[in-house]
Amino acid sequence: MNENNSSNRYYRRFSLGQRYLHGVIMSTFVGLAFTGMVLRFSHTTWAPAVAHAVGGFAAILFFHKFCAVLLTVAFLTHVGYVVVYRGIIKRDKSVFWGPNSMIPQLKDLKDLFGQFRWFLWLGPRPKFDRFAYWEKFDYWGVFWGMAVIGFSGYSMWFAPFFARFFPGSWLNIALLIHGEEALLAAWFIFAVHFFNTHLRPGSFPMDLVIFTGRQTEKELKEKHPEEYQRLLEKGQLQAAQTNASPEWLTILGRLIGVVVISSGFVLLVLTLVAFFRRQ
Ligand code: HEM
Repeated sequence: MNENNSSNRYYRRFSLGQRYLHGVIMSTFVGLAFTGMVLRFSHTTWAPAVAHAVGGFAAILFFHKFCAVLLTVAFLTHVGYVVVYRGIIKRDKSVFWGPNSMIPQLKDLKDLFGQFRWFLWLGPRPKFDRFAYWEKFDYWGVFWGMAVIGFSGYSMWFAPFFARFFPGSWLNIALLIHGEEALLAAWFIFAVHFFNTHLRPGSFPMDLVIFTGRQTEKELKEKHPEEYQRLLEKGQLQAAQTNASPEWLTILGRLIGVVVISSGFVLLVLTLVAFFRRQ
């Protein structure tokens, strides 16, 4: 098939709802990471300057809590929609199993080992389906983060309430867990997630699919060959086809991408320097 034709055909990858959800999670996470790191690295020269610019450390804490509430609402809405609405009310089994499910399956483990073999020139490149194993890993990272960072964060915020159920020392532990896990999450997102989605060969300098919701046929075949094959064999390829992204959406996606990726990179460098200088 002609490569040019292949780049002119577009397929839907993410619905509008999924793109909005990602947008809320992305912006609140960046907000939480920035405000949280200003609190954590308050001994540096840059943190008080940032705090001063927005009205002081009290304002930073206010924005941190504001973003935390938005992120929690988005997270609970997603869980409610997927588990309660689609899984329980609609009895949609594809949520829990199969190629469109985010639940890790045996194929993901095989793909993981297959990819490491491929990295070492010991085997062929694994053929990913709709979601590659690392995409599922990133997805579940949000659940882990909400459990660990969220629970410890709310414990500190509503300390008198949590003190009814936990000993007082829990608050010190919560602060420690919250700060360390948040640092790990921020470094993971700003280094690994950004590399996997935007900076790796094949996506560099930016993959706009999460903003536009569309990918070209060439991208679908290269990044998700098993999904392409499945849709082709089941005669569902035509139904997944869509038109090209409107120009304004592509420009907006690029703009958001540049701002978020460069902000993440700046925060990554600042926190790495601040962390290792203190050791
Ligand atoms: C539901 C989500 C969250 C809640 C409720 C929450 C709540 C809080 C609260 C109340 C504090 C202030 C503790 C104090 O008074 O000293 C705090 C500090 C902090 N938060 Fe969060 N937070 C959340 C998510 C996050 C996320 C996603 C990150 C970063 C990726 C983050 C990074 C931090 C950091 C680095 C600190 C400073 C810790 C320290 O001083 O060592 N938080 N958070």
